[in-house]
Amino acid sequence: MGTPVDPVPEVIRRALADASDAPGYPLTAGTPALRAAIAAWVSRACGAGVDGLGVLPTIGSKELVAWLPTLLGIGPGDVVVVPSIAYPTYEDGARLAGATVVRTDSLTSVGPTSRVRLVWVNSPGNPTGRVLPAAHLRKVVDWARERGAVVASDECYLPLGWSAEPVSVLSPQVSGGSYAGVLALHSLSKRSNLAGYRAGFVAGDPALVAELLKVRKHAGMIVPAPVQAAMVAALDDERHAEEQRERYRARREVLRAAFTEAGFTVEHSEAGLYLWLTRGEDCWETVDWLARRGILVAAGVFYGPTAGQHVRVALTESDEHVAAVAGRLRA
Ligand SMILES: Cc1ncc(COP(=O)(O)O)c(C=O)c1O
Repeated sequence: MGTPVDPVPEVIRRALADASDAPGYPLTAGTPALRAAIAAWVSRACGAGVDGLGVLPTIGSKELVAWLPTLLGIGPGDVVVVPSIAYPTYEDGARLAGATVVRTDSLTSVGPTSRVRLVWVNSPGNPTGRVLPAAHLRKVVDWARERGAVVASDECYLPLGWSAEPVSVLSPQVSGGSYAGVLALHSLSKRSNLAGYRAGFVAGDPALVAELLKVRKHAGMIVPAPVQAAMVAALDDERHAEEQRERYRARREVLRAAFTEAGFTVEHSEAGLYLWLTRGEDCWETVDWLARRGILVAAGVFYGPTAGQHVRVALTESDEHVAAVAGRLRA
């Protein structure tokens, strides 16, 4: 269903343990070491220059997805745009703020008079594994800047490109070299098997990040000190991330072949942690067919009203379970 199952890398566990004597309050802004590690990683992974880049650690990325509209002062009468098929928390966060949600992948369908304050993009996407090209992201950023809206780009699957190379909203081809109005959300949950630690961060427009810091400081949205130390170790080490990536790559190959042989069509799934599948029937029939074989998948309708004929298969199972799934599909 999507929760990491492989061990937390030793280098990260050691850093957490070494930082466990932490009697004082941690810094909401992150320690200088963590801020430097985030900036260095963003520069490597997103092709972003670090000059003028705002960075801030978050308690995993889900909390920021859920609270970003509220933290930005978005409220009733404002519009938040979310992808047509999307991780549900974008809509949940807009509702928590009392804002109106518009579900669309095409900003031309948003009326010229509507008060759009925030546009979510998610590439590689959950649940579809779709990768948005740089030109598409650039258009979204230009559109939002013209209207004074913020683009929040959820990039938690950025390191997991398979048949397409994901592009960050912070890369110069998208941002045009300025971070004005853009925020990129990242997570160590999947890259480093740290879902249990709650370790994420946001990078982008320094004025927006400063505003988030101010509110989060007073709201107690603070990453625990030992987790901050663990994040530094995780961000500074690419080896474990590459090993984990290879595990997912191998599982993806096995599952992709087995589901294709069993008559499923794989759509998108160019990157990220999921296969987006259809048999051209109602998703609950597919969920039921698979459940009878002891295989649990997520129904497409969880992610949007237009996804009623799809199911989402996660790559986050042990090699043993993945082999069992393939065996059951072939039986
Ligand atoms: C698209 C997307 N964004 C954000 C998250 C939240 O991840 P976390 O809070 O573990 O960083 C998830 C988790 O599955 C996700 O799929």
